[in-house]
Amino acid sequence: MRLKPKKAMRVDILTLFPEMFESPLSHSILKRAQQAGIVEIALTNIRDFAKNDYRKVDDKPYGGGPGMVMMCQPAFDCFEYVEKLSDEKPKVILLTPQGQKFDQKKAVELSKEKRLILIAGRYEGFDERIRTGLDAEQISIGDYVLSGGELAAMVIVDAVVRLLPGALGDEDSAKDETFSEGLLEYPQYTRPEVFRDIKVPDILLSGDHAKIAQWRKDQALERTKKLRPDLLEN
Ligand code: ADE
Repeated sequence: MRLKPKKAMRVDILTLFPEMFESPLSHSILKRAQQAGIVEIALTNIRDFAKNDYRKVDDKPYGGGPGMVMMCQPAFDCFEYVEKLSDEKPKVILLTPQGQKFDQKKAVELSKEKRLILIAGRYEGFDERIRTGLDAEQISIGDYVLSGGELAAMVIVDAVVRLLPGALGDEDSAKDETFSEGLLEYPQYTRPEVFRDIKVPDILLSGDHAKIAQWRKDQALERTKKLRPDLLEN
């Protein structure tokens, strides 16, 4: 009897809008990685844990001010339920524009975890006690404000899952891509050799692997200098 392979990672996502994840999770690499048993991704609706008659999960801020704030009780009850769905100790991430900025280095770091719990908020923000009480790492995907943490959670799941062993068809393809060596990726071409009078660089047709490797290195460096000089400063 063949045993099922142990999943490389379990990801739990806590959200008020689980339907938002349906499409991204059911296409391409994320779909294949789940089907191949590389990752298990589970969605839990925070609203299912609201105790009041109206299934209310937000309330007005103390002290006044615009907007609504996500309440503690549904968030904590949901978290405590989800935490028990696996024995693996989770790395807990709260999506918020106030967090540390997400980058490829963080994606690599998270891809080494066995279990992630991502908490996506809505409304104007979380009750501060959610922030402080859950021992979560706060992560932002960039200096702009989204309507909620869902899109940010999807970005993180995508960037992390594609790094899991076996998630990309070709084991090497995550190695060469943009940011993997701190540089942008070199230019790529496929057939035809000439398209609208623009020819593929001769070197790529030469068959000289050492020269091609050097050309790619030079191109990656040149392109990074031109388009993202900030990457070279670190
Ligand atoms: N929620 C709202 N804006 C966000 C951002 N930029 N990153 C992560 N979560 C968010």
